[in-house]
Amino acid sequence: MDAPVDVTHVRLETPRLLLRPWEETDLEGFFAYASVDGVGQMAGWQPHENREVSRAVLRRFIDEKKTFALVLKETGRVVGSLGLERLERSEDPEPAMLGREIGYVLGKDWWGRGLMPEAVKAVIDHCFQVWNYDFLTCGHFSWNRQSQRVVEKCGFTFWKEVAYRTQLGTVERTRLYVRYNPRKRKEYHV
Ligand SMILES: CC(C)(COP(=O)(O)OP(=O)(O)OC[C@H]1O[C@@H](n2cnc3c(N)ncnc32)[C@H](O)[C@@H]1OP(=O)(O)O)[C@@H](O)C(=O)NCCC(=O)NCCS
Repeated sequence: MDAPVDVTHVRLETPRLLLRPWEETDLEGFFAYASVDGVGQMAGWQPHENREVSRAVLRRFIDEKKTFALVLKETGRVVGSLGLERLERSEDPEPAMLGREIGYVLGKDWWGRGLMPEAVKAVIDHCFQVWNYDFLTCGHFSWNRQSQRVVEKCGFTFWKEVAYRTQLGTVERTRLYVRYNPRKRKEYHV
């Protein structure tokens, strides 16, 4: 079952990143990385063709309250996003338990520095320790080795492979993973 989420008043800090809710003033930083070819496609969406596309997505991020902006502390710049999505793609590993699917994107200029694993681990900690979620899922297209590495570094366990229809109209073989909240482990024998 989808766990409740509201990032409005949440600020998470890692050594290099600040995770906070998106703001209208993030438009330029968002467009700068979301318009670059080869980034969104790895998560199933087209590069943003213009600022109006970014503005509409940004509006949705703000309204839906389930997506963090990733700000590089060194520069104050928005470099990516991390959302706690509904479980429609993952389905429910355990229908009686509460969880969400983590989804993420990092601007190309910042790939390969371990920034996304740093962000994902901070969100896992918050979801398990503060919000008391039962589990989190995460998934990647089977060819997306970069995302697979993030999932592996963050302690998820492979669950199953599904066919997922993307916003691009393609169907992608998608590997799904789950990580359970160790604080609640005894309650459901995993
Ligand atoms: C997936 C993604 C978030 C990884 O973030 P990151 O902070 O770069 O993660 P890491 O630094 O841990 O690197 C992960 C792997 O990417 C690969 N990689 C690193 N730098 C790279 C580069 N410049 N180009 C291509 N691949 C690179 C390496 O295989 C690395 O694994 P390793 O650490 O075992 O060598 C990022 O690549 C991204 O945003 N991609 C586009 C969107 C996307 O795929 N989202 C996920 C959808 S499921």
